[in-house]
Order: sequence, then structure tokens, then C-alpha cells
Amino acid sequence: MKITGTTRLAGIIGWPVSHSRSPLLHGFWLDETGIDGAYVPLPVKPEHIERALRALPVLGFRGCNLTVPHKQTALAVVDRVDPLARRIGAINTIVVTPDGSLGGTNTDAFGFRENLREAAPQWKPSSGPAVILGAGGAARAVIVALSDAGTAEIRMINRTRKRAEAVAGDLATPQTRITIHSWEEVSAVQRQAGLLVNTTSLGMVGEPPLILDLSSLPSSAPVVDIVYIPLETELLAAARRHGHPVVDGLGMLLHQGRPGFEGWFGESVQVTERLRTAMLATLAPVR
Ligand SMILES: NC(=O)c1ccc[n+]([C@@H]2O[C@H](COP(=O)([O-])OP(=O)(O)OC[C@H]3O[C@@H](n4cnc5c(N)ncnc54)[C@H](OP(=O)(O)O)[C@@H]3O)[C@@H](O)[C@H]2O)c1
Repeated sequence: MKITGTTRLAGIIGWPVSHSRSPLLHGFWLDETGIDGAYVPLPVKPEHIERALRALPVLGFRGCNLTVPHKQTALAVVDRVDPLARRIGAINTIVVTPDGSLGGTNTDAFGFRENLREAAPQWKPSSGPAVILGAGGAARAVIVALSDAGTAEIRMINRTRKRAEAVAGDLATPQTRITIHSWEEVSAVQRQAGLLVNTTSLGMVGEPPLILDLSSLPSSAPVVDIVYIPLETELLAAARRHGHPVVDGLGMLLHQGRPGFEGWFGESVQVTERLRTAMLATLAPVR
């Protein structure tokens, strides 16, 4: 990478931010497209987020991504939030417009949908109810993606019922019913389902594994794990053994970066096998 006097700038703001793979992702696309641009990690403490975001246009940044713990707080700082991000309740991408104002969006729902479309093309919203494990930030993006695609019923399981109730209250629509269940009911909940998605952090390196009895889930139902370290979680290994189409979390991570790149650098980019291979090599835990 060569930095010049006209290099276009973007970055990722988080605290900490050293674990983020986004600089590698956008660095790959910058190399591939030959754009005179740079994407840098920006460690910003929670108490400084407003000042940091306001400084983006002053410093000539085209925008940024946001990661933990800023995704919710930044929503109240930016000048505009698109309706999708408003529903999800968090932003992960900011684009600075020519007048210096900040527009916030959330690209996780896009990333999820594109990954599912690519890795499980046979899945349709009409395939049956979708089972969603978890009720955190990622679950909200996945539910919005499935609801907007036309899924009529979402069955949610979460350890903390209150959190699931809040998500259902915010995201259920006349077209998409959201029901809440306990882990003990998982076998019944999986019956006649058309899709199962793990959005909990179970299965992630350093967390307990997610061990599920998948015998009541129809074998045509894709099993998606959005955890991407490790790439092959216990859940995906079990799903493979039962003959389910499986979808790992790396594709979602890669696809969610595309709208930001396009907004900052003005060129659309794709998720290719070469990119997947390059990113796979970086998935060992970073300290
Ligand atoms: N592939 C991608 O692009 C992508 C994008 C976003 C996130 N992710 C991954 O998705 C996972 C969740 O992220 P998030 O932002 O939604 O996190 P979050 O907001 O902190 O939510 C975590 C979820 O996991 C559940 N959970 C955690 N530990 C548990 C346990 N021991 N037993 C049962 N449930 C447990 C939580 O349940 P409670 O509500 O009961 O605490 C909650 O539903 C992470 O692994 C993250 O890396 C991947």
C-alpha cells in the first residue's frame, strides 16, 4: 500500500479494536481495485466516541465502521440513521457526505442475507419457520433480514427471556410473527422449521460449545452459525453429519463490508474465493 497526498481514508472505531479483521478485509479490496485509499484501526474509548465521530469530516475521513462498544451509542451521535439501522437499534457503518454530515447504517442484515443467498441458494422464506438462537445485537440484524425477506414465523430461543421479549416487541410485524421459547423446548421448536441460525456466542473460541440435538429439524433446513472463530463449530459439524446444508459465519463478515467500501471508495466489490482464502488464513485468534 502506498499513501499519497490524495489517499482516501476510512477506518474502524472500537475499544479495543486490535482483534478486528476489517483492516485486512478492506486492505484486500483496496489492493484488488488499486484505489488510492487506506483503512485504519482507530482505538477510541467509549467516553470519546462523540468527539471522534465529529472529527471524521474535519480530518477528511470518508467514513468508518464501528465495533464493540460503540454500535448503539453512535446511533445517537450521527446526523441521519436509515430506517433499517433504526429498527436493528445499532449502526456499524458511517458514511461522511460532502456537506460533512454523518449518515449511519447497519450492514449486518445485508451481510447475513447475501451469505445465506450464496451458501444456501435453495432456501426460501416460504421454506418454513426460522429458529433463531440468541437475542443480542446480531440476532436483531438476522431477524430484520429474515423478516424483510418475507419469513412469516420466527421462533426465538434465548437464555434471558426478557431480552427475547424486547427483541420480539421491537421487531415483530403484521407479516412476521415472533414467538419466544426456552432451550428446553428446542426439540419441539425445530419441528417443521425451514432454517436454524445460531446468533449466540456459544461455540466461539473461549465460550462453551453449542451442542444441539438436531434430530427433529427437517434435513432440508439449512443450519447457519454466524460464529466464525472457529469456522467449523460443533453445531456446523453436527449439522453436516445430519445432512443439513451448512452456512458458516465468515461469509456474513465479508459481505457486511461491501456497502461501506462502496460508500467510502466509490467502487463495488465482491466476495470471491480468493478473498475467503486470504481471510481464512487470518482467523487464528488475535490477542
Ligand atoms: N459473522 C458475522 O459477521 C457476525 C456479525 C455479528 C456477530 N457475530 C457473532 O455473533 C455472536 C453474538 O454477537 P452479538 O453482537 O449478538 O453479541 P451479544 O449482543 O453480546 O449477544 C450474545 C448472545 O449470546 C447469548 N449467550 C452468551 N453466552 C451464553 C451462554 N453461555 N448460554 C446461552 N446463551 C448465551 C446471549 O444470551 P443472553 O441474552 O441470555 O445473555 C445473547 O443472546 C458473537 O460470537 C459474534 O462474534 C458474527
